[in-house]
Amino acid sequence: MMACIFQTQLKFAARLDDSMKATAIHLFNPRQNLWNIDEVIGLDHVVAPQYFDKIPAPVLKDFRVLLARDVYSEGDAQALYDYIWARKGEMSEAFLKMLNLWLADELKHYEALRRTYRCIAGVSYAEMDRCFEARVHETQPIERVLRDEFTMLVTLMFDEMSSVYSYRHDLREYYAHFGPAVQRVGRYLVKDEGMHFRNAAQVLLQEHSHRLWEMEPLLQDIANLEKRLGKYYNTFFLDHAQERFRFPSHFAQVIIQVILAQFGLGDRPSTKTLQSLWQWG
Ligand SMILES: [Fe+2]
Ligand SMILES: [Fe+2]
Repeated sequence: MMACIFQTQLKFAARLDDSMKATAIHLFNPRQNLWNIDEVIGLDHVVAPQYFDKIPAPVLKDFRVLLARDVYSEGDAQALYDYIWARKGEMSEAFLKMLNLWLADELKHYEALRRTYRCIAGVSYAEMDRCFEARVHETQPIERVLRDEFTMLVTLMFDEMSSVYSYRHDLREYYAHFGPAVQRVGRYLVKDEGMHFRNAAQVLLQEHSHRLWEMEPLLQDIANLEKRLGKYYNTFFLDHAQERFRFPSHFAQVIIQVILAQFGLGDRPSTKTLQSLWQWG
């Protein structure tokens, strides 16, 4: 489905010249899944004891460790947004339009995960506030992916598509076992990260279709950087560097294939290979 949409847009983008770009901004409409956080998980949500009783202790421990990382990574979206916004003169209108919607979603994820973390691990909001305020956001280690709007978009697509599969795994492994509210949080995370990928891909096609040939080497560069970093620098991008050991070794390469296939730049991995990205553990 997504591949078909992009095929049509690829043909459209190829016909755009500069004089048509001004009109094209009006054609770009970033999309958003609409869900109300208070209707999904309340501030004081309590997970019923029977869910905790059924979960093996090591699984609960792992979920708590995972949430302790993911909650703050989502909040780091604000730091990335602030960094990009300080350079907004270099960015296209379509990118900035997408970014505003993206930030609203990521901050909603931050809040949804704060609520989840609290009811799963018993950590108070005040303690989370303290941890988050103490974070240092470093852009220098990842500056090669922050060169321009194109490299940021490709990095964002890599991150968002990686999150689709990692959250899909975590939904099955963790979120699904703690009642309907926590399960719905996991489902919306997967859906939203997919939408973020789609919106970024559309901006890329509209604004940078002449640079599509750069995508494959750039994606490899991003994956290599993530591997080399070995740690996450609290700037939203490449947050999976902090948990690479969790994923199958071929994870990043398959994600790259998935992305290239969306742009008609390669074959989509087989269903079995895609399943191996989230059905493990
Ligand atoms: Fe997110
Ligand atoms: Fe996202």
